[in-house]
Amino acid sequence: MSPEDQLQYQNQKMVKPRHVAIIMDGNGRWATKQGKLRMSGHQAGAESVRRAISFAVSYQLDALTLYAFSSDNWSRPNQEVIALLELFVLVLDAEVKNLNKHDIRLNIIGDTTRFSHRLQDCIRCAEEKTQNNQGLILNIAVNYGGRWDIIHGVRALAEQVRDGSLLPEEIEEKTLSAHLCLSAIVPVDLVIRTGGEYRISNFLLWQAAYAEFWFTDILWPDFDENVFQGALHAFAKRERRFGGIAL
Ligand code: IPE
Ligand code: IPE
Ligand code: MG
Repeated sequence: MSPEDQLQYQNQKMVKPRHVAIIMDGNGRWATKQGKLRMSGHQAGAESVRRAISFAVSYQLDALTLYAFSSDNWSRPNQEVIALLELFVLVLDAEVKNLNKHDIRLNIIGDTTRFSHRLQDCIRCAEEKTQNNQGLILNIAVNYGGRWDIIHGVRALAEQVRDGSLLPEEIEEKTLSAHLCLSAIVPVDLVIRTGGEYRISNFLLWQAAYAEFWFTDILWPDFDENVFQGALHAFAKRERRFGGIAL
């Protein structure tokens, strides 16, 4: 986005977000409350993912970004990590047809190099199969961390400085932005977090600089169209100033 486009984008009164990002939290507590294993919470959470995607399609959002697995989630018991990644493969495999049917383009963000070859192939295959779709852009953040994202971008710039193609004084916000995840799509307007915590947990640290935040105690497996709608109603009432003053 050029600075002129950005200014125009910021000045328009936005009633409807174009890009919503969701921190899908609370699966484990949802399961524990029902006397079930945490994994059944993640399975129920997969249903909420389907609901959120279909709502985003019917609401004609440009982009939906879902935080599925953070770079810090490796610190969970190994059994849970393995089962979560296994569930991710299953859901990806099962959903590609549906994504194509609804013209959704899938884009995985995060450091996938730590995953098994099977999972990396599965991700590549799902992205390739949907890459020509023109509807909703669906970003799934797996092994994603905002700090990782920034370090990854800084490293790319450092390499350009080393090979002489970039001067340190040429580095501006847009130079780094261009090397971060989601640089090619509209900015994040709204971040929703379920599960009752009021924190960002290393999600889109750079990209959410001027996003609106909406928190709910609802646990992710209970997230449905009504809750999504509630977040969008709240967004429509916000006044975004981007450091300026009310117009
Ligand atoms: C969110 O639910 C899903 C992931 C982080 C993978 P949690 O598993 O964090 O659920 P709680 O927060 O323990 O309830
Ligand atoms: C954030 O949830 C990560 C995802 C939803 C994938 P966590 O459960 O990992 O966050 P903390 O530990 O409560 O900050
Ligand atoms: Mg959690």
